[in-house]
Amino acid sequence: MTGKAESYGQKIFSHSAANERQRLAALSDVLDPVTFSVLAALPLREEPRCLELGAGTGTVAAWMAAHLPGAQVTATDLDLSLITAHRPDNVRFVHHDITSDRFPAESFDLIHGRYLLHHVPDRDRVLGEIVRWLAPGGTLVLEDPAVFPLHAARDPLYRAVCLGAVEVLAQRIGSDCVDWALDLASKAGDLGLTDVTVRVTCPTVSHDNAPGRFWQLTLAHLRPGIATLPGLGSREVAEVIARISRPDFLDLSMATVTTIATGPAGPADP
Ligand SMILES: C[S@@+](CC[C@H](N)C(=O)[O-])C[C@H]1O[C@@H](n2cnc3c(N)ncnc32)[C@H](O)[C@@H]1O
Repeated sequence: MTGKAESYGQKIFSHSAANERQRLAALSDVLDPVTFSVLAALPLREEPRCLELGAGTGTVAAWMAAHLPGAQVTATDLDLSLITAHRPDNVRFVHHDITSDRFPAESFDLIHGRYLLHHVPDRDRVLGEIVRWLAPGGTLVLEDPAVFPLHAARDPLYRAVCLGAVEVLAQRIGSDCVDWALDLASKAGDLGLTDVTVRVTCPTVSHDNAPGRFWQLTLAHLRPGIATLPGLGSREVAEVIARISRPDFLDLSMATVTTIATGPAGPADP
């Protein structure tokens, strides 16, 4: 995935864009319950060295610091300006571009990245780098969206506009909301990771829930781009945003695919 004129945050999803703080907060509200339950169930060593990639608002980093005994957490992002979560002493926030910056090999016992890699160029190479940073027997947890449930959404206009948003992201910044998350388990196996498991979560969208807020804010942000697609205009996007606010609206959202895997074992003891 190369040659895109634009990358994440330059225009689309810039942290200084109107309502981006609220959009990422809604995303955390959608995703945190599953992430926290997955992380809480991991068989981690005491005092794990944790890496939170593309931390966004920082809620996962703050959770790791508070709930994993003795954790030392490194939280990264291209842009740390929207870290709103509590900043405990055992979290180090680092400006870091996952596509070019490195960490030493085998330096983390837990690495987590959510809604990051599907947006990143050259993501297969980046995944290989991330695996190198994982200590032998460490745990990798990657979470990314998969669009397939939206194809079964009941409301045709909502379905077309949301799929339009996915298309805009693919065209403008090379995001893959279709295959990346679904292929991750086999890619993890190819990289020598073991005990690979996958959990798929599919929320619904309504007027009073976090997925509804997330979609309204995302569609409002991407409205100019969606309006350039064949058969869609600004008016259709506005209609869907309004429709989600109706008390009787209920439809499918994207799925989140959570892939959990164990780092390659180190050399056997002599
Ligand atoms: C969709 S948000 C997800 C935020 C957070 N992980 C969550 O799930 O709540 C993607 C985050 O990845 C960051 N990001 C995008 N490209 C990046 C890169 N190349 N290196 C590091 N962070 C990046 C963005 O700044 C943004 O905070």
